[in-house]
Amino acid sequence: MKNVLLVDCCIRREQSRTARLARAFIAALDLERFCVNVIRPDQERMRPLTGETLAERDRLLAEGALSRPRFDYARQFAAADDVVFAAPFWDLSFPALLKVYVENISVEGITFRTTPAGLEGLCQGKRLILLTTRGGYYGGTRLEQATTYLAALGEFFGFEQFICIGAEGLDTGIDPEGPIAEAEERAKALAASM
Ligand SMILES: Cc1cc2nc3c(=O)[nH]c(=O)nc-3n(C[C@H](O)[C@H](O)[C@H](O)COP(=O)(O)O)c2cc1C
Repeated sequence: MKNVLLVDCCIRREQSRTARLARAFIAALDLERFCVNVIRPDQERMRPLTGETLAERDRLLAEGALSRPRFDYARQFAAADDVVFAAPFWDLSFPALLKVYVENISVEGITFRTTPAGLEGLCQGKRLILLTTRGGYYGGTRLEQATTYLAALGEFFGFEQFICIGAEGLDTGIDPEGPIAEAEERAKALAASM
């Protein structure tokens, strides 16, 4: 059984169009072959790194205390076979909530390690998938910073592939249903192909 980790950052919950893509993706997965773990960073006791939390993290890492609960998120991320980030396009990238999650999973010795040749990813994940929706049209432009960053992050952590499925232009006055439905189909097709 492979495990898929869905990191749900759809802050607008029931109103979220991005959440529709996530639901379409999960519904099309073969649940005989995949189990799905969902994590909602806004429901977790997950804090951004501050002077205090960073010092505590450094102390635990210096002690080699990688099994502490604080590092559960990093271990879960490192062990996932595929990871899906469901996050809307906010302020040219994604909600800070997802960055807080990234700060919590980026742990030396769990998701990456230092070698004489440089840093090396330790995650066993194959695909890092971003499901997103955007108010305007930004795909393929310099102003679209979510995919650039998350693709680099996936490479850093050792993922083989980064895939983005998104719907655009939803707040431009067009009927958003068409692009959302089309992106839902692509999300389903991806899940069915896994
Ligand atoms: C706080 C905030 C910031 C946003 N920033 C952008 C942006 O920079 N560019 C853009 O095209 N749309 C932006 N949007 C619009 C969202 O990308 C768009 O409405 C998206 O579909 C929201 O996803 P959701 O329905 O899953 O919440 C923003 C929306 C919010 C609430």
